[in-house]
Amino acid sequence: MSFFSRLKEVASPTIGLGCMNLSHGYGNLVAEAEALRALNEAFEMGYRHFDTATLYGATANERVVGKALAGKRHEILLASKCGMAMDPELGKKVIDGRPETIRRQCEASLERLRTDHLDLYYLHRLDRQVPIEESVGALGRLVEEGKVRAIGLSEVSATTLRRARVEHPIAAVQSEYSLWTRNPEIALIDACREADTAMVAFSPLGRGFLAGAVTETSQLTENDVRRGMPRFSAENLPHNLRQLEKLRAIAREQEVTTGQLALAWLIAQGDDVIPIPGTRSIAHMRENLAAEELCLDTATLQRLSELLTPDQVAGVRYSEALQAEIDTEEFGE
Ligand SMILES: NC(=O)c1ccc[n+]([C@@H]2O[C@H](COP(=O)([O-])OP(=O)(O)OC[C@H]3O[C@@H](n4cnc5c(N)ncnc54)[C@H](OP(=O)(O)O)[C@@H]3O)[C@@H](O)[C@H]2O)c1
Repeated sequence: MSFFSRLKEVASPTIGLGCMNLSHGYGNLVAEAEALRALNEAFEMGYRHFDTATLYGATANERVVGKALAGKRHEILLASKCGMAMDPELGKKVIDGRPETIRRQCEASLERLRTDHLDLYYLHRLDRQVPIEESVGALGRLVEEGKVRAIGLSEVSATTLRRARVEHPIAAVQSEYSLWTRNPEIALIDACREADTAMVAFSPLGRGFLAGAVTETSQLTENDVRRGMPRFSAENLPHNLRQLEKLRAIAREQEVTTGQLALAWLIAQGDDVIPIPGTRSIAHMRENLAAEELCLDTATLQRLSELLTPDQVAGVRYSEALQAEIDTEEFGE
């Protein structure tokens, strides 16, 4: 079953829920009881597509998602990722796309997520030591065995996607895509459209920036990954916040929030663009889901497209270390 038919089957809104920051990434973590409550509320308010990964919270995120959604398994689209995980012995993140690792991680994901199959399983990062055909071949065997319904790739170039799909159909590519990160427009979205591959837009709120959640570098705690991201640095953030004012002005005119505008703009890029905002706040979940109902006219969409373009944003999205992990050049294939 294709990714799109599964979304239809579970009556999913276009917007999915990124579960990462319940256990990973942006500063202090959420207690399990609070995370369970948030995930249950998300389901109650209508979210049906839930995105997690082996990496997040060193497997804690999959556990909490599994616990919260076990009784609702057939009513949701459950997506997770392999190929990048915390190594408990090394105490650091390791990219490993070898077939035996993919199989082992899939079996562990299924157990933590309390299910016998994943609707979508992504290769979280291309392992430069392993040809993409081998990693995708391993994922394809998991599809044949019924453990995975569809395969995704994350942060890959158009070239890698084209090579991968010779081996097996690729249902979705997950990449950072938002008003201030237009990189997929260079080549990746076209490559997705050639073969009915969905574009799942991660960090659609610019890691909180587009929702106005980050106003000073000093508000980010030591363990917040955004501290190492150039756009959030003390040198670049003030410039970027001045650019955000233009988005605020349009939000005031439309009587919506800047985050809702950012999500509505993404949805307007095509039926195949699926944003997965992440939040720990039930109020923010509700606000983000409501962006689904916004209908922006062509002139407003055009004005939004002209904001926060690469030439107006200060700083690249990743630190050098994170950039080295991905398969694409900044602003290029
Ligand atoms: N494939 C990959 O390599 C990759 C990388 C990154 C993320 N992802 C996926 O994409 C998902 C979303 O990405 P993300 O969490 O990085 O970015 P995001 O959705 O762009 O931003 C999340 C941040 O925005 C804040 N926020 C969310 N809604 C808000 C609202 N309505 N008002 C104000 N602040 C709001 C959140 O804080 P609060 O909690 O306070 O709301 C959080 O700090 C993740 O959960 C994960 O599943 C994938």
